[in-house]
Amino acid sequence: MTTITEFRDRSGGDPITMLTAYDAPTARVVDEAGVDSVLVGDSMGNAVMGYDSTLPVTMEDVLSRTGAVVRGVDDALVVADMPFLSYGADEADAIENAGRLISEAGAQGVKLESGPHTVDLTERLVDLGIPVMAHLGFTPQHVNQFGGYGRRGTTRDAARELLDLATAHEEAGAFSLVVEHVPANVAAQITEALSIPTIGIGAGGETDGQVLVITDVFGLSDRSPSFAEQFGDVAGEMTRAVSAYRDAVESGSFPAAEHSHVDEELDDL
Ligand code: KIV
Repeated sequence: MTTITEFRDRSGGDPITMLTAYDAPTARVVDEAGVDSVLVGDSMGNAVMGYDSTLPVTMEDVLSRTGAVVRGVDDALVVADMPFLSYGADEADAIENAGRLISEAGAQGVKLESGPHTVDLTERLVDLGIPVMAHLGFTPQHVNQFGGYGRRGTTRDAARELLDLATAHEEAGAFSLVVEHVPANVAAQITEALSIPTIGIGAGGETDGQVLVITDVFGLSDRSPSFAEQFGDVAGEMTRAVSAYRDAVESGSFPAAEHSHVDEELDDL
């Protein structure tokens, strides 16, 4: 099992791989492929729950899916996302929610969409023994505040603010930082400034690692962001399997003799 310390020490080393997963069989595939870390992202809202944003995702959703992912994984580090308003409003609630993801669901760390409001909370959680992955740049829980899904950190002031916040979260004890949808040269400077690993998504190739949403990688998403890449046609394979099943049932070739059990003593009822 990859530990938080091993993950943190990967800064500046070989590229770190991270993918999201929301269920045990997918997490097993990701883990067996040698991916370093699985993120149980609140992207589950769009990716697998049929919502059009992450905002409706609840603590119970993330707890249940984190438990499933943890049961599917042997080696990868499992990080659970804290959903919208499960932190930020009340410190005691945030601590309880983060703690449940660790103690009930079995995650090794939690991810918080970060800003000026999460610096002290990060420090408090870390003090209590809850490892924190910070997340800056485009933070999807702020989609209404941002007015859409555009790139962040695109002015000197905004980029400078991201750099300052990244440093503040490292100082607060975060073990890693996701940087989402920012100019590649801004992500590169943040990576250069930090001694914890940065994990980029839509942030160029100079971060310490990369993360993508698994349904984008599989070709299972209705819509994918421009920075994502489809690495397979899982939807095509699922369609082939379902069609083959339907054809087999309709033609009578399934179930065959090997799928059935006949007990001759039960012939005459
Ligand atoms: O929820 C998520 O999957 C994320 C990643 C895209 C970083 O936050």
